[in-house]
Order: sequence, then C-alpha cells, then structure tokens
Amino acid sequence: MTSTSNPKVPEKKDQVHRVLLGKKQILVTEDEPLLVQLERAGIHVEYQCREGYCSSCSIKLLWGNVIYPFEPLAWVQSGYLLACCAIVKSDIEIAFFD
Ligand code: FES
Repeated sequence: MTSTSNPKVPEKKDQVHRVLLGKKQILVTEDEPLLVQLERAGIHVEYQCREGYCSSCSIKLLWGNVIYPFEPLAWVQSGYLLACCAIVKSDIEIAFFD
C-alpha cells in the first residue's frame, strides 16, 4: 500500500519587505523577527525578554501586516506590534512615538 498524502509545499520565507521608520527605510525578510533586523540596521529598540513576555519592545504599527509564529504572552495593544517576535508580512511603517 502506498501513501496518498500530498507533500507539503515549503513556506516561502525569502520575501523582502520595506520597513519605513520616519525618513529611514530598511529591507527585511520573513526569516527573522523584526527586532533582530532593526538591530542589524543600527536601529535601537528597547527590549527585555525577547520572547513575547514583557511588551517592552512594543512599537507603533502605522500600517502594514505582521504575524506572530507563536501567540505572545504579552498584551499587544491595537495599532502596535511586538518587535521581538513579529514577522513582517508586507511593507510596513512603524514609529517609536505617537
Ligand atoms: S522584548 Fe519582551 S515582549 Fe518583546
């Protein structure tokens, strides 16, 4: 007897998206959380746990889409994202202050 299950199509993670922050623009991929990629670009982000517990990495999301590969324990206020665990899924614009 042979298996009839279909092979899973690999998830495409090499999508590149623009992150706008004031007059800055950086390119990010879906491979890593936003926090890591902002740091690599020289943009300082406050953080503590880096695991979705504390919300100290909360950043205002002006527009665009992010997802969380796991449900963060910290409360994510509407219009904000948690940079340590957010995966960018479209071009986005963020701000550190209102
Ligand atoms: S650093 Fe704690 S939730 Fe992101």
